[in-house]
Amino acid sequence: MVKLIGVKKINAAVFISGTGSNLRSLLIFFKNKNFNIKIKLILSNNPKAKGLKYAKIFKIKKKIIVYKNQNLAEKKILSCLKKNKINLVCLAGFMRLLSRRFINSFNGKIINIHPSLLPKYKGLNTHRRVINKKERYSGCTVHYVNHKVDSGKIIMQKKVKINKKDTVKTLSKKILKQEHRLYPKALLKIYPNL
Ligand code: GRF
Repeated sequence: MVKLIGVKKINAAVFISGTGSNLRSLLIFFKNKNFNIKIKLILSNNPKAKGLKYAKIFKIKKKIIVYKNQNLAEKKILSCLKKNKINLVCLAGFMRLLSRRFINSFNGKIINIHPSLLPKYKGLNTHRRVINKKERYSGCTVHYVNHKVDSGKIIMQKKVKINKKDTVKTLSKKILKQEHRLYPKALLKIYPNL
């Protein structure tokens, strides 16, 4: 076997608060292929997050850090990331805002997925707002995380057509399906810059 010298190894942590379907798709994608990106850690602020089950299924570490005080919680997170040699953070439905200090300490190595065509519809309840506005298209965006919510540099987007009959439920299902494809692709795209 040829040993590649100087190939960057990326150890990623995925942060979740809920279902973790994006986490699952990342785990599947980066497990099956010979990539230099490995998902090493699942981190959640919510002990009841359903996605935590993937730690056992995919045999990777999990860490739960409940927020009582943001400063303290972030200190714990940073020390956990350091301990596990994490050099990329992927947010996937993580329902906590990260402080400026935390973001700076990761120096642009934090990525997020958002279920709209940013810069439109930042924040929560995107599908409801998109439908109320009678938009014809929505979609999903993978972007770098900066100090403003859902405002960092866009890495990749996927457009999804909205039908007249679409509800919040059907639209979120359609978009989630595209999110699962987009997130791994976006990580591969930024790999050379990591
Ligand atoms: C996704 O729609 C993602 O775009 C948003 O939160 C949702 C998380 O879903 N940030 P899941 O936990 O990955 O299923």
